[in-house]
Amino acid sequence: MSSQKGHVIVLTYPAQGHINPLLQFAKRLASKGLKATLATTHYTVRSIHAITVGVEPISDGYDEGGYKQAPSTEAYLESFKSVGSRTLSELISKFEDSVSPVNCVVYDSLLPWALDVARQFGIYAAVFLTNSASVCSMYWHIDHGRLALPEKQATEPVLLPGLPSLAPADLPSFLAQPSSNSAYLAVIMEKFSCLDKNDWVFCNSSAELESELVKAMSGLWPLVMVGPMVPSAYLDQQISGDIAYGANLWELSSDQCLSWLETKPPKSVIYVSFGSMADITAKQAEEIACGLIASNMHFLLVAKDSINKFPIEFINSEQERGLVVPWCNQLQVLAHQAVACFVTHCGWNSTLEALSLGVPMVAMPQWSDQPTNAKFVEELWQVGVKGKKNKDGIVTRDELEMCIKRVTAGERSEEILKNATKWRKLVIRAVSLGGSSDKNIEEFVGKLVKE
Ligand code: UDX
Repeated sequence: MSSQKGHVIVLTYPAQGHINPLLQFAKRLASKGLKATLATTHYTVRSIHAITVGVEPISDGYDEGGYKQAPSTEAYLESFKSVGSRTLSELISKFEDSVSPVNCVVYDSLLPWALDVARQFGIYAAVFLTNSASVCSMYWHIDHGRLALPEKQATEPVLLPGLPSLAPADLPSFLAQPSSNSAYLAVIMEKFSCLDKNDWVFCNSSAELESELVKAMSGLWPLVMVGPMVPSAYLDQQISGDIAYGANLWELSSDQCLSWLETKPPKSVIYVSFGSMADITAKQAEEIACGLIASNMHFLLVAKDSINKFPIEFINSEQERGLVVPWCNQLQVLAHQAVACFVTHCGWNSTLEALSLGVPMVAMPQWSDQPTNAKFVEELWQVGVKGKKNKDGIVTRDELEMCIKRVTAGERSEEILKNATKWRKLVIRAVSLGGSSDKNIEEFVGKLVKE
């Protein structure tokens, strides 16, 4: 019997925090012998550079600029569902008579309609969850009627199996303020209501990082841990493989960042980034700027399109002390010996990257799953501290300065660094050949490569 390689289409939501882990997953599958094709929107295709993975466009109905052109999040997600289903079908059909017909769709958890498309073709379907398993377990409990959405002014902690006691402020914003994120919450709940219909449910995390949760949920849900999806170069002692995900929706300033970092002493730089989606206020930007100056350390700040929110004198006068860029290769920065800590919004990818590279964090969560991730950074993994917000929801300059001191020089800084090193080792073990996440990927690949 002739052997045939499996062919997986990996479908991503067109945001940086989704493209990165899904592209990395596609690369991991390709490295294990599968044919992998990343499907993404027309306007993100050109930002992706991948040698081992095919890249094909599908449409969300807004081919020039995506969700920014849509009248609302609801309208965008609805359009993506109808136009995306049709164009994903066309893509699968395109390969039908080729030497590598598609036999599985791995789809981003924000695009649950891809399950129906895969079923229409009679091929395997797998959902890829881009949040932590702990956050996913909260949605799962709600879907299974085991947890009610918290009341508006709730103060009672939420107690769930395998999770620490969670104050309302530690919950994902989609649960803490359901009305402000109702379109996303609806999609998330749709996904959790059909979890069992998937052939696989992958999560971008490792069993070691969330061991209590994994134990508590064992046998209850079908989650398979395959992460963290961080390019292997950073998790491989040999330093081989990709040094970047291969996708940037903003213009890169990496050479400038690296040559600037090279001029700084070890552990002297604070790296500050709020990921791709969070939008900080001008007041918060001002407090960050003043806190960084007061810290007396060097800083590298990613400002994206928000550069104007930072005080102009900050941008102009701090050339020696700091560098402000629109975007960088975050992994290269975090891996640099000059970096002492990461002031982060705690997006799940940023959190995983800091854990994978052993970098202590100052957590400043903004929305979505970030409050829960921040809680885990401070209390579960103990690899950082969380900036407390004042009554206006701002982390003040004094608070930020204090947090930076605590993780870089304070009494607990050594312990935090020791923990960060410990988690880095555990993550490396999980994704290395024969590690817990690697074995799960091997099993999946084995099933798809037909005899
Ligand atoms: C969002 C959510 O916050 C996240 O928790 C969810 O799981 C996915 O969607 P985002 O806000 O963009 O993502 O944050 P994050 O998950 O941290 O992803 C940002 C990605 O952009 C990271 O992989 C990071 O390495 C990358 N990045 C960020 C850069 O490459 N350069 C930068 O300058 C900043």
